[in-house]
Amino acid sequence: MQTIKEITELRKFLRNERLNGKTIGFVPTMGALHEGHLALARRCQSENDVTVVSIFVNPTQFNDPADLKNYPVILREDTIKLVSTGVDYLFLPEYETIYPDKFTFYIDETDLSKELCGISRPGHFRGVLTVVMKLLNIVGADRAYFGEKDYQQYRLINGMIEAFFMETAIIPVPTVREESGLALSSRNSLLDEDSRKRAPLFFGILSSSESCSEARMRLQENGFFVDYVTDIGNRRFGAVILGGIRLIDNVQI
Ligand code: PAF
Repeated sequence: MQTIKEITELRKFLRNERLNGKTIGFVPTMGALHEGHLALARRCQSENDVTVVSIFVNPTQFNDPADLKNYPVILREDTIKLVSTGVDYLFLPEYETIYPDKFTFYIDETDLSKELCGISRPGHFRGVLTVVMKLLNIVGADRAYFGEKDYQQYRLINGMIEAFFMETAIIPVPTVREESGLALSSRNSLLDEDSRKRAPLFFGILSSSESCSEARMRLQENGFFVDYVTDIGNRRFGAVILGGIRLIDNVQI
């Protein structure tokens, strides 16, 4: 695996791959990689000749500075996982590389991004859309892969692609869960012992409740602070705080 920090260098390698007729798939991440990320990488490898993974903890999508400070960074372990998965390129940019403009330019969406997570995390999706636009422009991939756990994020990124006539196809990949049902998330590692034991109830209650109000009540009874439980179409979306850690999930209903 080639680890590359600079845009010009990455572009040089990828241009060569394209000249050799190779298709390029891309998996953007913020690191602290788990099986969910590796499932994205494997799917990417099965559908493309070359797989690029980026690790960049994007500060502009953290509306809470404490959340950014606590975000797990385990680059050594991440690199080992990516090498053993057979990823071709790891893009590892610095803040200055991604934000030469210091975030004075950004991508904003004024509808879906203001709902669900957008209500309690103002500015979050502005940061996500902006960094994803930048990364997609840098990599120029044929396909990019996003987990369905962050379903609102996936929908917004897909909307951005359509709105700006971008050429990368956005591929949603089903959420990877523990046997207990808990969706894999980098934030799970931040849960204390008691919260870790209770966390699987989140998925259990979201999927087994007859209504949002029942789910909300049962979650509260089990010690979850509920940000929202909302049904949109045939999906139920939830966000909770457990032991100070924010967890999100969504299930088909
Ligand atoms: O889902 C994530 O890990 C991030 O929001 C993303 C898409 C890598 C942008 O920073």
